[in-house]
Amino acid sequence: MGYNVAIDGPAGAGKSTIAKLVAEEKGYIYVDTGAMYRGLAIHFLDRGIQAEDTVKIIEACKDADVKIQYEDGVQQVYLNGVNVTGRLRDEAVGRMTSKCSVIPEVRAKLLDLQKGLARTQDVVMDGRDIGTCVLPDADVKVYLTASVRTRAKRRYDELIAKGGVCDLNEIEKDIRERDERDMNRETAPLRQAKDAVLIDSSDMTIEEVVRRIVGLCE
Ligand code: DC
Repeated sequence: MGYNVAIDGPAGAGKSTIAKLVAEEKGYIYVDTGAMYRGLAIHFLDRGIQAEDTVKIIEACKDADVKIQYEDGVQQVYLNGVNVTGRLRDEAVGRMTSKCSVIPEVRAKLLDLQKGLARTQDVVMDGRDIGTCVLPDADVKVYLTASVRTRAKRRYDELIAKGGVCDLNEIEKDIRERDERDMNRETAPLRQAKDAVLIDSSDMTIEEVVRRIVGLCE
């Protein structure tokens, strides 16, 4: 069994930035489970399936093969042999992912892959259900959160920096809707595991959060 660090939390809490830095410092592998869900969502989108069409989504899971690979230390997602990493952050993909990840069959499809990665390697894995479902015996569990306004502002700044046009209130509304879906779905809802350390990053720098988590690993 590898040394396992589980980081869960809502959208925009900074999980991937923090998890990547912790992994780098500790020499562990960073596993972004959201990227796996996003890879699967691309499969449904490319088939023209609507997010509401659960029957078609479940059927389409059968011929989706999601794999992750590390190239120069960076996680790449392959969908049926094609590298789809460049498409993972598209807005349409994010919307589809948030909706289809409530379906138990979609979650089951990725669960073994996630557990398998942590079995043999030291990992920092981030997601929504890592400490509660995927790695219940993780050595370190963190629930990383921040206020809705802070998370919306971070996403807004990110999009503006990329040259996008967006509206802060719209982003905030979208984040509230995603929280609602992630926290209230029946299978593997977003919850703080009983033994997870709560970190609210609203008023913390990235460096401060990284130091806190690295400290927990020692
Ligand atoms: O972390 P992210 O924004 O890349 O996640 C995209 C979506 O995938 C998000 O709406 C919730 C879902 N997800 C999930 O249900 N379980 C995980 N372990 C990771 C992500």
